[in-house]
Order: sequence, then structure tokens, then C-alpha cells
Amino acid sequence: MQVRRISAEERLSHSFPLQAYAFEGSPAPAATADRWRDRLPYNEGNRTLVAEDGDTVLAAVTAIPMRQNVRGQLLPMAGIAGVVTHPLARRQGHVRKLLTALLGEMRDEGHPVSALYPFRPSFYARFGYAALPKRRTATFSPGDLGDLVRADLPGDVVWERMGAGYGAYREFTLRLARERHGFAVFPDFRDARLRDDDERWLVTARVDDQVVGAAAYKVTGYDGELLVDDLLVTTPLSRMLLLRFLARHVDQVSRVVAGIPAYELPELWGTDFQVTVEARTVIPSGNAPMARVLSMEALAGIQTGPGRLTVEVVDDPFLKGSFTLDGRGGTLEVSSAGGAAGATLSAAGLSALVYGVLDPEELPLRGLGAVPADAAGELRALFPRLVPHVVADF
Ligand SMILES: CC(C)(COP(=O)(O)OP(=O)(O)OC[C@H]1O[C@@H](n2cnc3c(N)ncnc32)[C@H](O)[C@@H]1OP(=O)(O)O)[C@@H](O)C(=O)NCCC(=O)NCCS
Repeated sequence: MQVRRISAEERLSHSFPLQAYAFEGSPAPAATADRWRDRLPYNEGNRTLVAEDGDTVLAAVTAIPMRQNVRGQLLPMAGIAGVVTHPLARRQGHVRKLLTALLGEMRDEGHPVSALYPFRPSFYARFGYAALPKRRTATFSPGDLGDLVRADLPGDVVWERMGAGYGAYREFTLRLARERHGFAVFPDFRDARLRDDDERWLVTARVDDQVVGAAAYKVTGYDGELLVDDLLVTTPLSRMLLLRFLARHVDQVSRVVAGIPAYELPELWGTDFQVTVEARTVIPSGNAPMARVLSMEALAGIQTGPGRLTVEVVDDPFLKGSFTLDGRGGTLEVSSAGGAAGATLSAAGLSALVYGVLDPEELPLRGLGAVPADAAGELRALFPRLVPHVVADF
């Protein structure tokens, strides 16, 4: 078995067919080859590794060179996608070998973190990934926002096709990625698909000519649903401007279903406002995202609280070793440590702390480390809880 990075053109013969078999209805009609060729530009800068036995591709894995905000720093992130094994070659260790090689290459090229949407979280937990919150949906009738229809607000909205408004939308999402923990963005070559497919409406909230909120959405039909991918807001006014726009769809659609971050509280958006907030995880097609740290040193500079601890990370090819983590200056300082460690962490345990999704006390209970009480206090101070807002779906 040989592991090899394939060229962009080789995706047509080496990785797309296996991906289509795993993730789409099949056998596929002959037109599929043309569709795959159209998709090539959006995969241009990805890194795909395959495992081959002669002419047979046994497995493939892909990394998208993305960026993600981790505690205030926008870091290169390896977005893992297209993980597939030939149906006759499964459970033989191919993906373990390929994914380990791919993550190593991405780390060496300067990606200190990685994220993905798992088919089964326990599979990726073995590779050091920790679960992040899933985006919620808020479902409501536009009629319930009736008060807003004529509200006089100091701002406005612009309504257009995504193909036309893409530039402003991209700029706004890049701004959120610079500011918001967990927010991830595609590289330009991949993100351009949103513009080129032009399958969304775009509404942007503007105050003083600045975009302060945005929603990409589609309408399923008359009396149907208005489906917002992510209701992206930065201020109460920006939310109100977008909600007023949605309210004006009363008597056109029966329901609005809007993606929202896990920290939003839609029940507080209005008085007499009836709303259902949901997050449902489903194996294999609707799981929460997961993320992991690939390089401790490269995390230096992320915003931290005033804690300090030497930790030992065990059982991981990328993070194995002892590090002194010092957050007393407001940003993380990392140094290799020789002395005794105050806590022992798995890669998933460390990643959960860095992303702010688990309390240190939970790690021993979940088999993610050994953390005595005093060490838990330092880690809690160093990595205060946060709720990441992950939007890119890949
Ligand atoms: C899921 C899939 C990619 C796994 O590939 P594979 O080459 O069979 O995986 P490996 O043999 O390298 O297994 C890696 C590890 O995961 C475990 N594992 C494999 N399949 C698993 C599953 N379905 N659930 C839980 N664990 C699993 C293995 O036991 C192995 O553990 P170990 O290395 O700690 O002993 C493959 O079965 C597949 O193509 N499935 C259909 C497509 C899919 O679901 N892709 C994932 C998209 S995120």
C-alpha cells in the first residue's frame, strides 16, 4: 500500500468517485463526470492523499486550507473532508494511516488547528478531536414579529442575489472570522462557489453604510419556508434590522427557520414571540463539528486568562510532550517543560480546553486526562469557558 498526494486533475479519477459512492445516491448518471469537472476549481488548493494498491484507490482524505478564530487569533486551520475508504478495504487501517499523514503535513505547513464534521464523533475522538456546539435553528412565524413590520430603526437593509452581493458578504464573514471565537472561513477558491452557484438570496443590514449583519437564505415556495443558513449579527440593532426584514414575509411564508449560534437566546427577541430553538445531532449526517489542536507552540498569542500550568499531553503523534502554559500576561505563552506536570491531558482534552467547551473537571470524568483540583483551577483560569460560533459546513 502506497500513500501519495494526488494532483488536482487526478481528483476526477482517484478521489471523487469514492466520495460519490460514500456520500451520494448511486450508481450515478453519466453526466456526473461533467459535474465533477465543474467542481475542480473549488478544490484547487486542497490537499488530497490517497492510499493505493497498484491501480486501485483504497482510501482518500482531503484537507481544505481554511482559517478559524481561536480565542481572538485567526489561525490557519485544516478543514478535513472527503474521508472515504473503498467498500472492500474498510477496517484495515487505511484511514488511520492517511489521516495521520495528512494532519502531519498540514501541521508542518503551518496549520495549528483542524476541524471537521464527523460521521461518528467517537471515530474522530480517537484522532484527538473534541466536539464543539452545533449551530441551533430558531423556527418562528413571521407573523409573530408583527410589531416590527413598521418599526422605525436607524439603519436599513440591502436585498439582492448572492451572486451580486457576494463581495460584501465575503468581507463581512472575514470580519467575523477576525473577531469571533470559533468562526471559520473557506479559502477564496472554495468560498467562490457560493457566488458562482448563486442559489441564495442575500440580505445585509447596514448602519452608516457599514454591513453589520447578514443572512443568506432561500424560500421553498408560497406559504412555504424561508430558510436562513446563518443569521449573522453583530449588534442588537443589526439583529432587529434583519428580523424586521423577515417580519415583512408575513402572508408569504408560513415559517422562518434560521441558523443561529449556540449562545443566542431567541426567546428574548420579542414580546409574545413564539419560537422553537433546536439542535439535533444525528449519526452519520447531522453531527456537531469537532476540532483539535495540532501544534501547541503555534497557539502562542491566543487570548487567555491569568493561569499557569505545566501539562503533559499523552498518546498523540502531534502534541506528545510537556508544555508550560502561561496566560498571566493576557495572551498564551508556551514553552517546553522539563519539570513535573500538574495535569496529564489527551489531545482531545487539551483541544476541549483551548476551544473553551469543557470545564477541566470534566476531563477525568470523560477519560480525557488526569487533572487534580489545583490544576483544574489553573486551567479554568487559563482557558475560560467560551461558546464557539462555527458556521462553515464542509
Ligand atoms: C468511515 C471510514 C472512512 C473508515 O475508514 P477505514 O479505512 O475503514 O478506517 P480504519 O480502518 O483506518 O479505522 C481507523 C480507526 O477507527 C475505527 N473505526 C473504523 N470504522 C469505524 C466506525 N464506523 N465507527 C467507529 N470506529 C470505527 C477502527 O477500528 C480504527 O481504530 P484504531 O485505529 O484505534 O484501531 C470508512 O468506513 C468509509 O469510507 N465509510 C463511508 C464514508 C464515511 O462515512 N466517511 C466518513 C466521513 S466523515
